[in-house]
Amino acid sequence: MALALWLGSLLSSCWQNLSILGVFLTVFTLVLDFMKRRKKWSRYPPGPVSLPFIGTMLHVDFRRPHVSFRQFHKKFGNVFNLQNCWTNVVVLNGYQTVKDALVHKSEDFADRPYFPVYEHLGYGSKSEGIIVAKYGPIWKELRRFTLSTLRNFGMGKKSLEERVTEEAGFLCSAVESEEGKPFDLRFLVNNAVCNVICTTVYGERFNYGDETFKMMLHLFESSLNEETGFLPQLLNVLPILLRIPGVPQMVFRGQKVFMDFIDVLIEKHMETWNPAHIRDFTDVFLTEMKKGKEAEERGFNYNNLRLVTADLFIAGSETTSTTLRWAFLYMLLHPEIQSKVQAEIDKVIGKEKPPTMKDQVSMPYTNAVIHEVQRCGDIVPVGLPHMTYRDTEVQGFFIPKGTTVITNLSSVLKDETVWEKPNEFYPEHFLDANGQFVKPEAFLPFSAGRRACPGEQLARMELFIFFTTLMQKFTFALPEDQPRPWEDGHFALTNAPHPYLIRAVPR
Ligand code: HEM
Repeated sequence: MALALWLGSLLSSCWQNLSILGVFLTVFTLVLDFMKRRKKWSRYPPGPVSLPFIGTMLHVDFRRPHVSFRQFHKKFGNVFNLQNCWTNVVVLNGYQTVKDALVHKSEDFADRPYFPVYEHLGYGSKSEGIIVAKYGPIWKELRRFTLSTLRNFGMGKKSLEERVTEEAGFLCSAVESEEGKPFDLRFLVNNAVCNVICTTVYGERFNYGDETFKMMLHLFESSLNEETGFLPQLLNVLPILLRIPGVPQMVFRGQKVFMDFIDVLIEKHMETWNPAHIRDFTDVFLTEMKKGKEAEERGFNYNNLRLVTADLFIAGSETTSTTLRWAFLYMLLHPEIQSKVQAEIDKVIGKEKPPTMKDQVSMPYTNAVIHEVQRCGDIVPVGLPHMTYRDTEVQGFFIPKGTTVITNLSSVLKDETVWEKPNEFYPEHFLDANGQFVKPEAFLPFSAGRRACPGEQLARMELFIFFTTLMQKFTFALPEDQPRPWEDGHFALTNAPHPYLIRAVPR
């Protein structure tokens, strides 16, 4: 009996001690969490209520962040703060705010946050590619190299424009073989755009029916989907979860297989590289790598070769092909605009000659339509995340060094203070009273400042040549039995149209 009483009192005192410890630990973690989330700066931007541990993450719909941001923009103004667990995030909205940050304080906003979720693909301190690289000498060197190699394109016999024109010809034949029946233009356009990147970067193009290529495009699409939603955001801010065996492989399976595909292309290049016969971007990069230790320190190492070329593929294919899919969708929905584009093509280029970039200057209406497609399609609505490189200010708000900054490009492209009809497809946004092409400064689909898209020139060329070549040869119509396609997009890093069927009637 005495033993039982003694055991009972021991248990009760243990339990009491455990309870005290539990209360102490809870209070301690809550205080720690509060300290981490506390904003000790005056003039820090306002934002929604931040909850313990999770911060404001439950307030944001990560499947459609631009929609959540629109609501916060209305409530808190042009600069507001969010908190992803303990990561401070500031969102910039509207043309003036984004310009002040990216153009006037370009270097302050030139850094990128660290993305632990990419480590399993080979990203590390000495190999960061371009897109997610920290602001510094290696990023500068690789970006400069990429820009000049793409611009000069001194390899191979064909200029970049000739390659795009040739691919536009293949695309036309593929569309023609649909014989005016309903089909989904997505696969062919995707194929054509990816071929431009593939020939430029890896010297290879794939036939439109090629099974490997189809598989790769499918993988690529799932890779983008893997990046959206709550889980990837959580893994980025709580990277410890990535240490759980199998988690990165499970969540980012498509990305891993996609990188394996790129590795095969690179291995092939390494085996066949010949300095006397440089074939493509990969060969130029390999030539730099062969320069030895000094080149390696400037960033030209094997891992960067796979990451930089993958970056070009990732950044250069989905963006351009999605924009083209918006373009044909808007033509379906606005047949009168389609007719005006075709009339201008017939007048300036004629019915037979393939379009060239020289024609663009004499085609203000078509040019305005393409720009309006980019504005209205709004394909990179929340841009890519930036990070402050030093303590800075924007619109009177203080933003400390190391803050993740989202430039809400959607709020710029649809800024009510700039655009006459922000939510309508209205090519006149880009025409003056005399019908001449004008480009308002708030046209920032490629972003601005030091991190602005280095592929803009190539993208412009592809958009103009693919669009005019198809419009020269076909009239696009909605199949009779099809419902009117939706005008709002589906977000997976880019804002893409929902799938739709189309008829391409030869002209
Ligand atoms: C319509 C087509 C395109 C659009 C709308 C687009 C848009 C963008 C945007 C918004 C950014 C983020 C800029 C920032 O961080 O502020 C970006 C970055 C980038 N884009 Fe594009 N892009 C397009 C096509 C291309 C093409 C064709 C290429 C390459 C061949 C390319 C390569 C890149 C790269 C490498 C970056 C990262 C730049 C850096 O971090 O320094 N893009 N693009």
